[in-house]
Amino acid sequence: MPGTSYHLGFQGRKRIVKMLKQIMEQRRASSIAYDDILYCLLHSKDSKYNLSDEEIIDQIITILYSGYETVSTTSMMAVKYLHDHPKALEELREEHLEIRKTKKPGEAVHWDDYKSMSFTRAVIFETSRLATVVNGLLRKTTEDMVLNGFTIPKGWKIYVYTREINYDPFLYPEPLTFNPWRWLGKNLESHNYCFIFGGGSRLCPGKELGLLQVSIFLHYFVTSYRWEEVGRNEILQFPRVEAPKGLHIRISNYHA
Ligand code: HEM
Repeated sequence: MPGTSYHLGFQGRKRIVKMLKQIMEQRRASSIAYDDILYCLLHSKDSKYNLSDEEIIDQIITILYSGYETVSTTSMMAVKYLHDHPKALEELREEHLEIRKTKKPGEAVHWDDYKSMSFTRAVIFETSRLATVVNGLLRKTTEDMVLNGFTIPKGWKIYVYTREINYDPFLYPEPLTFNPWRWLGKNLESHNYCFIFGGGSRLCPGKELGLLQVSIFLHYFVTSYRWEEVGRNEILQFPRVEAPKGLHIRISNYHA
């Protein structure tokens, strides 16, 4: 229905599909071997997967959508929670300043540095637990299922709402408290009730890439800047119940 967000989203999707079709045409007319996903997908026709154009476009849109909003929202919410919890920020900054001590000015961080960022990983998981970006998981039943006396027939598409699990006081004591330390050394990430990145064979394929991106952002952010919140912030409820529309912060140089 015109005027609704759904309608706007649909119009947006049409524009993206048009753009991608044009790019695909240009790519097909070119002999350049691009080093990107679109190039691989276009050449999937030579492999056993043989994706149609529609499927290739769908893959690109899925990756753009899944890979952008999740990482940017998690980064923003980490900045918010760290601002509100100076002890956590201090420990996180300490972790990153230790890494910087082993580097020359401007030298990039490496894989081993990233793997040593255990508190950072805990901060990201705690942020994702409280500010859950993906509320639930889509699945299709492959057989009739009885759940609490209700039958879900075979073939139904179901949305498994997983967000509330993150606030269960039996699983996460004091669930509304931002406590990254709860993730350290307890292997909480691998528990079968942790659905932050989904589960089973459809587990988020971008999980490690997403964690890496947020970690690298935090590395440079906390070692370069201080920040304070400015303006009203009522949209960022705790825990977040609506998509946040933005975080207003004033940034200054950490070393100044
Ligand atoms: C903090 C970052 C991220 C979070 C919290 C997140 C979370 C999730 C969740 C909960 C799912 C559903 C999994 C399921 O159904 O079991 C999912 C699926 C997916 N994610 Fe992520 N994700 C993140 C980053 C990324 C990145 C960086 C990419 C790629 C660049 C990505 C690509 C995908 C794709 C393609 C799917 C669909 C997988 C499928 O249906 O088989 N995600 N993600």
